[in-house]
Amino acid sequence: MKSLFNYILILFLFSSFSNLSAEGNMKLNLMPMPANVTVNEGKFLLTPSFTIAIQGKASDDFYSYATRVLRRISGRTGLFFPQDFLTKENNPISAPMIINCERLGKVELNEDESYTLTVTNSDIKLNATTDIGAMRGLETLVQLLQSDESGYYIPAVTIEDAPRFRWRGLMIDVSRHFMPLDVIKRNLDAMASVKMNVFHWHLSDDQGIRVEVKSLPKLNQLGSDGMYFTHEQIKEILAYAKARGIRVIPEFDIPGHSTAFLTAFPQLASAPGPYKIERNWGIFDPTFNPTIEATYKFFDTFFKEMCALFDDPYMHIGGDENNGKQWNNNKEIQTFMKKHNIPDNHGLQAYFNQRISKIITKYGKKMVGWDEIQHPNLPTNIVIQSWRGQKGLVDAATKGYQVILSNGYYIDLIQPTDFHYLNDPIPFNSPLTDEQKKFVLGGEVTSWAELVTPENIDSRIWPRTAAVAERFWSPQTVNDVEEMHRRLECVSFMLEDFGLLHIKNQPMMLRRLTNNNDTAPLKTLIDVIEPVKLYARHSQGVKYTSYSPYTRVVDAALPDVKIKRTLDKLIEKYIADKDEQSYNQLKDLFTTWQNNHSKFVELIKVSPILKEMEPLSNNLAIISKRGLEAIEYIKKGDNPLDNWFGDVQKDLDAAKKPYGQTEIMIIPQIEKLVNKVKV
Ligand code: ACM
Repeated sequence: MKSLFNYILILFLFSSFSNLSAEGNMKLNLMPMPANVTVNEGKFLLTPSFTIAIQGKASDDFYSYATRVLRRISGRTGLFFPQDFLTKENNPISAPMIINCERLGKVELNEDESYTLTVTNSDIKLNATTDIGAMRGLETLVQLLQSDESGYYIPAVTIEDAPRFRWRGLMIDVSRHFMPLDVIKRNLDAMASVKMNVFHWHLSDDQGIRVEVKSLPKLNQLGSDGMYFTHEQIKEILAYAKARGIRVIPEFDIPGHSTAFLTAFPQLASAPGPYKIERNWGIFDPTFNPTIEATYKFFDTFFKEMCALFDDPYMHIGGDENNGKQWNNNKEIQTFMKKHNIPDNHGLQAYFNQRISKIITKYGKKMVGWDEIQHPNLPTNIVIQSWRGQKGLVDAATKGYQVILSNGYYIDLIQPTDFHYLNDPIPFNSPLTDEQKKFVLGGEVTSWAELVTPENIDSRIWPRTAAVAERFWSPQTVNDVEEMHRRLECVSFMLEDFGLLHIKNQPMMLRRLTNNNDTAPLKTLIDVIEPVKLYARHSQGVKYTSYSPYTRVVDAALPDVKIKRTLDKLIEKYIADKDEQSYNQLKDLFTTWQNNHSKFVELIKVSPILKEMEPLSNNLAIISKRGLEAIEYIKKGDNPLDNWFGDVQKDLDAAKKPYGQTEIMIIPQIEKLVNKVKV
């Protein structure tokens, strides 16, 4: 128990929350970091008399936004502000905080989102060209909130801010696993809080059509499993997003990834049906037949309804991973290609895209698609979403296509935050000319949903996406990883204000995993492990489907666990200083992990779902013992016995093996310690 207490104490000491009680510490907890920040002498103390006045032009949505911000500040501080709801009618002439917007903003590409925020001892002024810019400024204000023994305050600052990129998106796949309205809403709130402005809604895939299509009711009767958003719900989300300055781009993935469409309309496929909604994950054969007129008649009806339903000028048509098998095996399609001098499947897909482009242009939209839609036969007024590599982005921009980067932002692949953070849509060494760089609109984080459910999706998206939001908004030179981690932790807990479950749901999942027994041994284990990365979960002998349980330890385990960084620092300090305090802290940690195994084994007896983790828990105990030996040798300056290094390496190598699709994350740190033992 004592060692567990010490462990918590160490985590606390290393936590950045101490920055919240500023005490001469003027580190701001802003993310994204504004373009220009000057910290001045003084602070604006928040008192119960705090009020906000809105001047200039602002939409009703903005008044509501300001009201929500007032409530958030009130909620964080416990201060009873006198102001109830800000409306045009209920808006004081003067107030300690004055917001001034020159004009109403339009929620569209290229809108001005700049703002300036000036805080002095006596007042706060937020000025913006548009009320959308003022929304961005209000989020900065909330993040500036600090406290000390005198109470809550906003430090005196002068901030001038504007985004680096105009397209800062998050894609959520609601086809593989359906995500109800609440999931979308809380993620929109989180996006707005880190100044993201595009919600890309992946609404169709092999596993389901997730939008009501009134003109083609069979799509929902046969292709949705009853799980889709009605027109009313879609409109609700569009309004919710608009009220937060966020555009919504729907995606209907065609001509591949279309099993659900073809389940309802098998006559439009390139091979005879029947088809069934796909329950597995991967790339599948069913593909629309691009050579028959019935296909385009269908899409005319479909896009007529969808283009009217969604109000953004952009419509995403997917276009990725068409494996071409059905096209290769269809004689009529092959004959069609010869007759029209179409040399290959890429050319045939370009023919299909040209026809689709005509349809959506007729209904007032511009086309967006994944890398694969790029083809010389397509006009350059389409937007390419580059997912296969930076090369695709460079290719597209060089050829004059507007482009957004998603390669490197696949947030479902459980990669560390710094990997995503340092991935830049236009890196310092970009081969693009200044003229070509203008075609790079920005980027999008993608949250594919094979391995997530509404229960754990937030923990996959957040907080790492906030770091990417900074990449999209802040100057390119804001790239200090350690500083990013410090601020990210502050932003992460603030996201909970919107009902985000990325922190809150793990304890619940652990209670279920332990059958409501003591979760402590599982918590100790889960804090040092992560799910395996990239696509490894699909190649380790577990066959996942859309109806598999996503409730195992791997699903509760979090990406990018903090202990790696905590341990790194502790070990560095111990190696450098050989100090008693670092020694004791390391000893406590290793002892906790070593002793955890016997407790974990007891837990397995009452909760067999944990059985798959037993070897990993055992390995953690073994390598922790090695860690203890290493700190002891270093402390005493002793040489270990001849075969010690070899035996340790064997243990560390064995501990690298994943179990339950999870892996121990502290092995490099122990290796570093072992390497410091005298030979
Ligand atoms: C994709 O990841 N298939 C766009």
